[in-house]
Amino acid sequence: MLAAKQLFSIVALSAFLTVASAQARLGCSRNGTVQENDTCDVLSARDSVSTFQLANANKDAIDAFCDHIFPGENLCLGLVGEDCTTVVAVQSGDSCSAIADTASITVATLLANNPNVNSDCSNIYPGEVLCTDNQVITYS
Ligand SMILES: *[C@@H]1O[C@H](CO)[C@@H](O)[C@H](O)[C@H]1NC(C)=O
Ligand SMILES: *[C@@H]1O[C@H](CO)[C@@H](O)[C@H](O)[C@H]1NC(C)=O
Repeated sequence: MLAAKQLFSIVALSAFLTVASAQARLGCSRNGTVQENDTCDVLSARDSVSTFQLANANKDAIDAFCDHIFPGENLCLGLVGEDCTTVVAVQSGDSCSAIADTASITVATLLANNPNVNSDCSNIYPGEVLCTDNQVITYS
């Protein structure tokens, strides 16, 4: 008979391993290399990846300020099955409705594919790269 404590630790470990293997299964569909003077947004625009997706696919390497990337670093540009490659860089004066109109998508799809953009779209900024795919992507 297993003691309750042992049973708990086995259950906890198998839950941990299930999560770990689910993450390991999501490989990168494409990679990119950080160049000299890159910011996350510059790299995102060059490699056609949204600002959100780049951070989401590199949770260990990219923090909220993106101040730890270095030239030569290999970054994951998109995870298999959730890789948006249709993107636009925000221009000065842009709004979510203008960006959505230009891309022929709804604002709801734009917001769903860019979870870093708030619901009233007041936090977009020039140079930020947004996913404008017409399919809603579920990000892990
Ligand atoms: C991306 O880089 C990783 C780590 O170097 C490598 O294991 C993987 O094969 C690369 N994936 C692609 C699609 O190039
Ligand atoms: C990076 O920035 C430095 C300082 O502004 C500049 O001297 C250098 O030419 C830049 N390198 C590239 C590749 O743009």
